[in-house]
Amino acid sequence: ATYKVGYFVGSLSSTSINRLLAKALVKLAPPELVLSEIAIKDLPLYSQDYDSDYPPVARAFKQAIADVDAVLFVTPEFNRSIPGGLKNAIDWASRPWGKNSFAQKPSAVIGTSPGAIGTAVAQQSLRGVLCFCNSPLMNQVEAYIQFKPELITPDGEVTDEGTKKFLQTYMTELHAFIVRVLTVLPRKT
Ligand code: FNR
Repeated sequence: ATYKVGYFVGSLSSTSINRLLAKALVKLAPPELVLSEIAIKDLPLYSQDYDSDYPPVARAFKQAIADVDAVLFVTPEFNRSIPGGLKNAIDWASRPWGKNSFAQKPSAVIGTSPGAIGTAVAQQSLRGVLCFCNSPLMNQVEAYIQFKPELITPDGEVTDEGTKKFLQTYMTELHAFIVRVLTVLPRKT
């Protein structure tokens, strides 16, 4: 069987190293995982005022999450947390009340930073948010990727063999995790 995985890139930067990481993960994923990006950049700032009538862009965003078996967050760390744009997207997805897109939707987090802790603090913060949103979250493997210049080429090739193997393992474990979760939780339609 194949599983659809929607991935979010937490960065809006045109030179994003997290986007490079996402490209690499798409290439290294086992054939059972079919990855597609769920874009966050066109969402307006969320307000509860929208709950009675979500705009088309937000409806499409929630539908994109509904259409996948699992979600993958590839995110930078901003000021020891996740970027505001990503938090905004999560807030949109979590509402209106009773229609939380992440409920029972398997998720996983990963990220890269030039700094040595490789987005660990942002990921910890994101894990707390996803926990509250009732998403079954992959606990292990954790992946804190320190980005060194040219670690990943513009077309998503990982130049360091050890990192490449590790990222491949991460995606294999993600596949196994999705299979485990969907064994006990029905797919949402
Ligand atoms: C950063 N950066 C950063 N890095 C980190 O390891 N921990 C942090 O808390 C922060 N904080 C932070 C805040 C803001 C506003 C910016 C713009 C940057 C540096 C960050 O890791 C670096 O800019 C990465 O290149 C961001 O990832 P993308 O956008 O290239 O994917």
